[in-house]
Amino acid sequence: MNTIMRDLTAGPTPLLENKRILLIVAGGIAAVKAPDLIRRLRERGAQVRCILTKGGANFVTPLTLASLSGEKCYQDLFSLTDESEMGHIRLSREADILLVAPATADIMAKMAHGMADDLATTALLATDKPVMIAPSMNVMMWTHPATQANLQTLQTRDVRIVGPGAGDLACGEVGDGRMAEVPEIIAALARFFAKAPNRGPLSSLKALVTSGPTHEPIDPVRYIGNRSSGKQGHAIAAALAELGADVTLVSGPVTEADPDGVKVVRVETAKQMMKACKDALPAQIVVCAAAVADWAADTREAKIKKDGGAAPTLKLSENPDILATLAQKGPLRPDLVIGFAAETENLVENAKAKRARKNCDWLVANDVSQMSGTFGGDSNTVHLVTADGVESWPTLKKRAVAERLAERIAAAFNHQSQHQS
Ligand code: CTP
Repeated sequence: MNTIMRDLTAGPTPLLENKRILLIVAGGIAAVKAPDLIRRLRERGAQVRCILTKGGANFVTPLTLASLSGEKCYQDLFSLTDESEMGHIRLSREADILLVAPATADIMAKMAHGMADDLATTALLATDKPVMIAPSMNVMMWTHPATQANLQTLQTRDVRIVGPGAGDLACGEVGDGRMAEVPEIIAALARFFAKAPNRGPLSSLKALVTSGPTHEPIDPVRYIGNRSSGKQGHAIAAALAELGADVTLVSGPVTEADPDGVKVVRVETAKQMMKACKDALPAQIVVCAAAVADWAADTREAKIKKDGGAAPTLKLSENPDILATLAQKGPLRPDLVIGFAAETENLVENAKAKRARKNCDWLVANDVSQMSGTFGGDSNTVHLVTADGVESWPTLKKRAVAERLAERIAAAFNHQSQHQS
């Protein structure tokens, strides 16, 4: 095992773990996304404390924010209780970053002009910590010269901006002004904590992801296939791309849409998948999430007909093991090779054995028994098996599993580069 491998398997802390985020929820319709944002930040081990503006309280209740963050939700600048428990100065300083989401045109204007007429704006003015905003407003308000001038002012003061995106706006108009989606905000925070504010933490790295099933033709109309929707693999490709990696996704036949910003190579059989993966090398990161069919059939050129006699016998031959091939020692071996283990029994024990057998660095073990609902479902309960042991993750949406894994990967490479510098 070379030095890079040792560092990467050392189990570094995820990028957002124990980070203290002061979330300021201002008065826009996108405030309804705040609960999901808090939930996802906490899933990643971040501590979240909220300030809710008067306008924000029209869209989301302080009780919701308090119960999801596990902390009091602060609202009032002149509340005796709030000020004696936690003065606004302390509130603004006891954070690693202040995140304004949604940031309305109004709060951006107040920030740009140094106004401090409520708790949120006072905390923003009193802070000595970095600030990130996720703007959200009507397209005309966003493109208005006043807002654009305020944005410029904020940018010159090093305020980080995430989004906004284009799309349908709550007001019925279409265009720029839609608050960045929660995963984008999380990715922006991860980038920030990876100390690479203008680039993703994985931006210098190439990643290869396999996803979906393979289909092994028996004749022109029939095939042998595995159950796999490609949801998990596609989500991993998307999450790695969000953190800046240059991602090639080699996918078997699926109905999932191609993730944004990812190069997709479509294949049908295991042998084609193997070739496409080799063509995508070199890469520093490999994640094999495909459910590859273990056997290929001797393909008949014409459709096999029922002739009233015995059922035909299929002659099968073993397919190449893509993960084991990519993980083999050699000059092209990626620095971090991650496999999946689809198991129906003895999950963790089988996964540990599989990790060793296939020589991969990390193995994500998931229960695919009928009862688990993993195949085709939106959620997944996984265990991350590394050289250090087994980490059991809570049941998460496949997208959240993907984001968490991508952040672990980013943290591993960040940790490695810090060790090398
Ligand atoms: N895999 C692969 N190529 C194959 C078979 C599996 O790349 N021909 C990869 C999968 O993408 C996954 C890992 O190997 O990352 C484990 O897949 P799994 O189906 O759990 O294991 P198998 O190797 O098929 O072993 P078994 O059927 O004995 O459980």
